[in-house]
Amino acid sequence: MRTEHARPIRLSDYRPPDWLVDTVDLDIALHPTRTRVRSRLRLRPNPQAAGPAAVVLDGDDITPLSVRIDGVPMADSAYLATPDGLTIPQPPAGPFVLEIETEIDPSANTKLMGLYRSSGNYCTQCEAEGFRRITFFPDRPDVMAVYTTRIEADRDEAPVLLGNGNLIEQGDVPGTTRHFAVWHDPFPKPCYLFALVGGRLGARTATFTTMSGRTVALGVYVESGKEERAGYALEALERSMRWDEQAFGREYDLDVFNIVAVADFNMGAMENKGLNIFNDKYILASPETATDADYAHIEAVIAHEYFHNWTGNRITCRDWFQLCLKEGLTVFRDQEFSSDMRSRPVKRIADVRVLRGHQFVEDAGPLAHPVRPDTYREINNFYTATVYEKGAEVVRMLETLLGRERFRAGMDLYFTRHDGRAATVEEFVACFAEAAGTDLSQFMLWYAQAGTPELAVTRRDDAQAGTLSLEIAQVLPPTPGQPSKLPMVIPLALGLVGPDGDDLPIRRAGHGPVERGVLVLTRAAETFVLEGVPAGTVPSLNRGFSAPVKINADLTSDDLRFLAAHDSDPFNRWQAVQTLASELLIENVAVIRAGGAVRHDGGFVHALAAVLADERLAPAYVAQVLSIPSEGDIARDIGRDVDPEAIYLARQALRRALGNDLAPTLRILYERLRQDGPYSPDAASAGRRALRNVCLDLLAAPGHPAAIALAAAQYSEADNMTDRMAALATLALHDTPEREAALADFFERFRADPLVIDKWFALQAMIPDPGTLDRVRGLAAHPAFSLANPNRVRALIGSFAQANHTQFNRADGEGYRLVVDTVLALDGVNPQVAARLATAFRSWRALEPTRRAAARAGLERLAGTASLSRDVADIVERSLG
Ligand code: ARG
Ligand code: ZN
Repeated sequence: MRTEHARPIRLSDYRPPDWLVDTVDLDIALHPTRTRVRSRLRLRPNPQAAGPAAVVLDGDDITPLSVRIDGVPMADSAYLATPDGLTIPQPPAGPFVLEIETEIDPSANTKLMGLYRSSGNYCTQCEAEGFRRITFFPDRPDVMAVYTTRIEADRDEAPVLLGNGNLIEQGDVPGTTRHFAVWHDPFPKPCYLFALVGGRLGARTATFTTMSGRTVALGVYVESGKEERAGYALEALERSMRWDEQAFGREYDLDVFNIVAVADFNMGAMENKGLNIFNDKYILASPETATDADYAHIEAVIAHEYFHNWTGNRITCRDWFQLCLKEGLTVFRDQEFSSDMRSRPVKRIADVRVLRGHQFVEDAGPLAHPVRPDTYREINNFYTATVYEKGAEVVRMLETLLGRERFRAGMDLYFTRHDGRAATVEEFVACFAEAAGTDLSQFMLWYAQAGTPELAVTRRDDAQAGTLSLEIAQVLPPTPGQPSKLPMVIPLALGLVGPDGDDLPIRRAGHGPVERGVLVLTRAAETFVLEGVPAGTVPSLNRGFSAPVKINADLTSDDLRFLAAHDSDPFNRWQAVQTLASELLIENVAVIRAGGAVRHDGGFVHALAAVLADERLAPAYVAQVLSIPSEGDIARDIGRDVDPEAIYLARQALRRALGNDLAPTLRILYERLRQDGPYSPDAASAGRRALRNVCLDLLAAPGHPAAIALAAAQYSEADNMTDRMAALATLALHDTPEREAALADFFERFRADPLVIDKWFALQAMIPDPGTLDRVRGLAAHPAFSLANPNRVRALIGSFAQANHTQFNRADGEGYRLVVDTVLALDGVNPQVAARLATAFRSWRALEPTRRAAARAGLERLAGTASLSRDVADIVERSLG
């Protein structure tokens, strides 16, 4: 199918590097099309390697202009340059200095890996394997070196020159229009953490005093003129730095910490040492242009990248199989940070929604892989929800199993033992086993076995004995390459909600009190007998979502309504409502497919009304309870023979019913939550807006003209993007003149603002109408659309493919055709983003037969295309496999 068929890379093939690099001196003369790169490496044989070996350096799309060993030019015949590297078959026996000169064209770099230009500025992205597009190097994370980088550029074109570490020298190049800066990073690092930036940039700056009293200069650099919008990011950085000192004892280590925002970026952001580079959507914010959700994401991503300084940079990964070692752990840390800055229960609910919406879906399909994969063909395809989000859950389970104090002791041991090194998952887990004096070998299965465990819980009450028995069986379904599995260790936080609604103590017959209320499952099936349990007690299972599992419990609707009213665990209170909704929706999907009339569930409406009436609950939390499962949630819960159209109809019917039955309450809340001062992005104000906007959306769901008018009025009167966007999103669901008028107004109002125009593209791509296909085709031809900008592609085509279930999955296959066409057009420009888009097909096997056949045909059309990138080919082959 494609010309270069990459061989899989296997964890079991890991060998230490033959050569180590002690120092790297780079001299980079920036030029739009002819950037000259001189690299000087001090190499020495690795004492841990097998013996004398060739020097093999990676390269991608570069050619050597000259190669010198210890200052002496090498004959062309003394080294071998290939498309993927440079080999010196007979290097000196001992340490030597290797100098290589290359020339690269940053303007032609549309893959956005290596050195490229974004809005005229120079920037880099080296993770995972982009450094080899700048110069020849052993591009693997276990080769750690001290870097000194001289950057030179035209003073006009790039007045700002930034690198890793501390600035040690700068000046003009005499007799020219050029200037230079020299940056030195004293901390040894792998080359994927290298970065440089050159351009015309403005900055917001501050100083931070660390816990030991050192002063750090902070800078957030953005396109000149947008400095005002960098203020929130800068404050979030300060909060992150303080939190890491307080929560984990981690202090920042350089004199400078810079962040640069760029408009063209493949991912969210990158933790380069001392010089984070961000997708500008995770930096730029003002009340008029950013929603509350944008603010929350900015805070979380700033924290995430900052926290990598310890979990990722000071301690990095031995090889890319260990990616979760830095990503899962750092996501866990940023989740904890956001929980401390905002509402912990609301953050947990939001994180679990993301986990289920992305990771559970990934785990259930052909792209399922372990948190630590053991083979890959293209590592960029493993920056997944499984590595990140499930990786974070695995760390969270360690904390749940060990308790806070022993967990912290394990972290401390990890930081002291592995600082300055490239570590493995085994080494990480060993720190906890040692610090807690416990055996974690079964726990390692969480890293090795893919798939989402399914728990079946059967309850038996013995009123006479006053006991409640929970029979719990765990099953881990087969996943690609893993037909059968071993039982996992599962920390199941339990609550017992007594008949009066209060929590009861948890005691196991013959064992005594259950430590921290956490049952630890270790076997395929086991029974826990709990004593002192009066009749009418309802178990609250997996509180706080203590384990990333699916639970099938024999709780009745009455039990769930009881939990929805009384559970002291806010997560499970929310979960009870979701489970009730999900059961009703799944039943109605079946009814609709059979041609029947949907069931209206007064009990469910009543449960929601009770939550709405509970004034002790925070608005942000109530907003989460009122947000019923998404179409994606329902499809995932159904799991097979999925009909997206029936799911849409069932969900619409429930939304309409809620909008009608709860109208008076929703209307009162909508008025009561009206903003009373100027906009502020803080969590409490954001929560009020969130609830108010959920009320608006439900009020409008039945389509009453008065509610549409309310949304239209909110759209025009809003003084902030959250309310304006929410009103527009509500209007978008109703085929009315108000919708088209608001969409046209929105474009005119924000046409100069790319991040806001992305919202305009995304919203239209998500409209669940048959007309959306033509609308998206039209928008793809809009002058503002471009395949060169990943944010724009994700906004229009990504939103259509990932968030518009009925229209992407059109029965006539036209939605699939549109996405396949885009993947093919994009593959030659930016294979990484094309591959990500192709993952939209990952659930194709779960569809009903007509759509399944159409989706498969789409994947096969991709598979049959000559010269696909390795990125897309890998996704397509695994999806069909
Ligand atoms: N390490 C970055 C993070 O903070 C992600 C970089 C991924 N880049 C890539 N090309 N795959 O999560
Ligand atoms: Zn990360």
